[in-house]
Amino acid sequence: AATGVAAVLLASLAILAPSARGLNRGEFPTGFLFGAATSAYQVEGAYLEDGKGLSNWDVFTHTHSGDIDDGRNGDVADDHYHRYMEDVEIMHNLGVNSYRFSISWARILPRGKLGGINSAGIAFYDHLIDALLQKGIEPFVTLHHFDLPYELETRYGSWLGAGIREEFDHYADVCFQAFGDRVKFWTTFNEPNLFTKFAYMLGAYPPKRCSPPFGNCHSGNSQQEPYIAAHNILMSHAAAVDNYKKNYQAKQGGLIGIVISMKFYEPLTNSTEDIVAAQRALSFEIHWFLDPIFFGEYPKEMREMLSSNLPEFTPAEKMLLQNRVDFIGVNHYTAIYAKDCISSPCELNTYEGNALVFATGEKDGVRIGKPTALGGFYDVPEGMEQVIKYVNQRYENVTIYVTENGYSEYNNNNMEDMTNDTGRVNYLEGYLSCISSAIRGGAKVRGYFVWSLMDNFEWRFGFTVRFGLYHVDFVTQQRTPKKSAKWYRDFLTGSGPMG
Ligand code: NOJ
Repeated sequence: AATGVAAVLLASLAILAPSARGLNRGEFPTGFLFGAATSAYQVEGAYLEDGKGLSNWDVFTHTHSGDIDDGRNGDVADDHYHRYMEDVEIMHNLGVNSYRFSISWARILPRGKLGGINSAGIAFYDHLIDALLQKGIEPFVTLHHFDLPYELETRYGSWLGAGIREEFDHYADVCFQAFGDRVKFWTTFNEPNLFTKFAYMLGAYPPKRCSPPFGNCHSGNSQQEPYIAAHNILMSHAAAVDNYKKNYQAKQGGLIGIVISMKFYEPLTNSTEDIVAAQRALSFEIHWFLDPIFFGEYPKEMREMLSSNLPEFTPAEKMLLQNRVDFIGVNHYTAIYAKDCISSPCELNTYEGNALVFATGEKDGVRIGKPTALGGFYDVPEGMEQVIKYVNQRYENVTIYVTENGYSEYNNNNMEDMTNDTGRVNYLEGYLSCISSAIRGGAKVRGYFVWSLMDNFEWRFGFTVRFGLYHVDFVTQQRTPKKSAKWYRDFLTGSGPMG
């Protein structure tokens, strides 16, 4: 039955009007982190250099190029591995005080625990971190952003085998030890709620496992595997947090959290059916990972719908989960109206014939706002305020960093057009205004990262869409500021247009 959550959802219906614009940096708390984000596989390239092992994504893009819209891969991507000094300079010009990036596990431990540490991998991140700090830019580091050593994929099915927990614990420990003297912001996983669905339900990400009715491959058990993988991820997260809190936090003085993909679901009407649908959808999106972390249990909606397909936490696991995170990372791009979805849990991405069809928002929900290039992402700035309020209320006024928010455009290979990105400027301005309004309403938001610093490899879309503040010419690797980069810099520095 609809309870307290429904009341929050109903209350949120009342705040659909966009907040006032006229944004300025002074509205944000002192020390607020303003940055831009990337991830290792999407920008680094150098996929076989200096002792790096193959990652699951290296192998997937090579063996399943048909699953990537343009058939391309991240072998070179933005060549950030070689151009990181130029990229740090770009960030400095942009005026950001933080940079969110991820570490490539396969660069640090090419074979997992078996083969030892690759010192050249450590050296790369050492140099990057030092260069950032020299410019006054705080490193905000993700340990797992979809890629892991391929050897661990074959050994454990990535996250399906419980043995992966010790592997992750070891990897996290190596990173805390090597970089924790300088890195003060850690997140364990990026969007585990999204990638487990893509990897184990829809068969769209490695290890490409799925089964009907969700996906078009017959290699898995979609009814169970996403939840088993998630369970192992949650426990890997908990062990890394436990280790950090016991052995590193006091002497290194950093913070640790987790990043969840948070599409917001608004009930279409205030009928009980729609309210329950929105609640169910939010359970499978947000509560799936955050309820165990805060309350030691999976949400009731999931337990009811999945029964024995959902693992249970042992008493020892519950104990370990109780090590609280210091903050939650919110990746938010879009919102949708939920109606009483039939193929619950309002899972909007499905297969039609052979093609993975991304939600248009017309199937189990009703779309709000203007479309952007990436299927299912609509420009709904007020969703940002709602999701922040929602997390704030459900999870004990926890500290929040908006770890991703951004706008995609189809790549039409016309640089003039792509750099004149007024749509992105409007999007960012709208979303930032709504964050400012959420802060005025009492939410503890302490940082904001635009996705992305520069155009890059967008997973199954390859290079067909562009998210960057900087345009990247993937032939010459030239970086060019878009209108949005100039807008962001003006907002951050309060100075005139960028040269
Ligand atoms: C989510 C992911 O964390 C990131 O890797 C991706 O590129 C963006 N959002 C855009 O889809």
